[in-house]
Amino acid sequence: MKNFVVAIDGPAGSGKSSISKLVCEKLGFTHIDTGAMYRAVTLEALKRKIDVENENEYSFIDEIDVVYKDGKVFLNGEDVSGFIRTSEVTNNASAVSRVKAVRDKMVDFQRGCRNYGNILMDGRDIGTVVFPDADLKVFLTATPEERAKRRCLENKTLGVESDFNTILEEIKARDYKDSHRAIAPLKQADDAILVDTTNMSIDEVCQEILRLIDERLNKN
Ligand code: DC
Repeated sequence: MKNFVVAIDGPAGSGKSSISKLVCEKLGFTHIDTGAMYRAVTLEALKRKIDVENENEYSFIDEIDVVYKDGKVFLNGEDVSGFIRTSEVTNNASAVSRVKAVRDKMVDFQRGCRNYGNILMDGRDIGTVVFPDADLKVFLTATPEERAKRRCLENKTLGVESDFNTILEEIKARDYKDSHRAIAPLKQADDAILVDTTNMSIDEVCQEILRLIDERLNKN
């Protein structure tokens, strides 16, 4: 049987990462977090001190190799997973991920992950661009307020105090940038199943996705 591909897209804070991880643990699928790949490129751009808004400053993209494996992201062979979640990286990632040369390269790397076996890839353009032929496409959403609430709680567990209104404004700004860029904007694929997680627990969302996967697996 050919490898099964699940594409999960959605805005920041919709729960994609935690849910994808749990579903993969349950099924033994390989999880690929494509946001981590764009974050690794952002880290490199910041290290090189380029003007991230200037598309002409991205020639370094030809010199880098980004691999996501076993929950870790490697940049030219170095595990950079511990450095990609800072607010500096988060706040610059939208600008970096708008650049065509960056997207072309990441999409190539992501398509190469198909030979990892059964995969679940999460991001913004997986169902629309990376794997338009995915076996199952899910679009996860939640209201901006709910996503901001979750981010504040997550920060609290990390011992970081955060201001709800600031987080809410950041989330709205990122949604706007991610869904209004020219290339591969955040958008629900026509054949994706919409799952609004606003009033659902993580466990309920996982159960729903496991049910959808089971339904498709048994159809094939
Ligand atoms: O999901 P995240 O917050 O880790 O994503 C980081 C950034 O990368 C975010 O600004 C959107 C961008 N991204 C993208 O453009 N395409 C993807 N497939 C995944 C993430």
